[in-house]
Amino acid sequence: MLNLHDALKQADIDPQLKEVIGTIAATCKSIGGKLRGGALSGVYGSESSENVQGEVQKKLDVVANALLKKSLLNNRHVAGIASEEEDDIIGGGDEGRYLVTFDPLDGSSNIDINVSVGTIFSILPTTKPGSQVTMDDFLQAGNQQVAAGYVLYGPAITLVLTTGQGVDVYALDYDGDFYQTHTQVQVPAATQEFAINMSNQRFWEPSMQNYVADLLQGEEGPIGKRFNMRWVASMVAEVHRILTRGGIFMYPFDNREPNKPGKLRLMYEGNPMSFLIEQAGGASSTTRIPIMDVVPEQIHQRVPVILGSREEVERVDTYHK
Ligand code: AHG
Ligand code: MN
Ligand code: MN
Repeated sequence: MLNLHDALKQADIDPQLKEVIGTIAATCKSIGGKLRGGALSGVYGSESSENVQGEVQKKLDVVANALLKKSLLNNRHVAGIASEEEDDIIGGGDEGRYLVTFDPLDGSSNIDINVSVGTIFSILPTTKPGSQVTMDDFLQAGNQQVAAGYVLYGPAITLVLTTGQGVDVYALDYDGDFYQTHTQVQVPAATQEFAINMSNQRFWEPSMQNYVADLLQGEEGPIGKRFNMRWVASMVAEVHRILTRGGIFMYPFDNREPNKPGKLRLMYEGNPMSFLIEQAGGASSTTRIPIMDVVPEQIHQRVPVILGSREEVERVDTYHK
């Protein structure tokens, strides 16, 4: 079986990019190790601190962030990093050609209850190699990403990766190596499964309310088919389900806090997941434009996220025209 190292060796991409991906995969093994030990690892519970988003940090948010920060800044090909758990960007080696943005621990509300969580990452090229990075270097649209992926810490630890040549899936074996289990994953174009946090219904825009109301009407409604619903509350787990069997994931704009356009963050949630889904033949949208066309103005910028099976994402867009 092909392990990650050999698969990267064969890949037609910059060797420096391979090293950056290798560093992320190795660090995620350590994060997975902490999760395996559960309460024994001392990573359950919360810190007293809040992150820049105003969310209380879980212990594992802090630990996972520290591990990724250290390993990435030790990789000389990394010109800079940005993390959900860091207020500002951090510069790396002057010779580095890659910027890494990451959500060190996605699905934090699931840590203490032993339900699937993940790490999400996006890799962008530096625009000015050889000089210290600035915020402007990071503020590139998702369509500039050279690689993206996630590690899902579930019953199995699974790495899902794209370098712009399709999507490959790896599972972590007992010997400590990631082995390729699926290659060129494809998201089915049609689906009968949706994922949305229904408790926010009254805060959505009318067009989103209409779409979900029609989904719920099933075969008797205008869409004409019955839908099932799932909500894990870990984006990594929802995207993994969609890559495996199709579906539509939605975290739309809502007016709980009208100054924030949705809950999820563009640079380390919306963009990398959109890159994966589109590389697998699915679609992604803000309900108005493709997510990867959004030109960021801030590193922690939020974005409405609709992604998954192409026909359903297109239908959501139609409701918003
Ligand atoms: P994070 O733990 O990195 O803050 O992300 C959580 C995100 C995402 O994983 C999930 O889809 C969503 O928040 C869950 O939101 P609700 O709490 O509204 O269900
Ligand atoms: Mn997240
Ligand atoms: Mn997170």
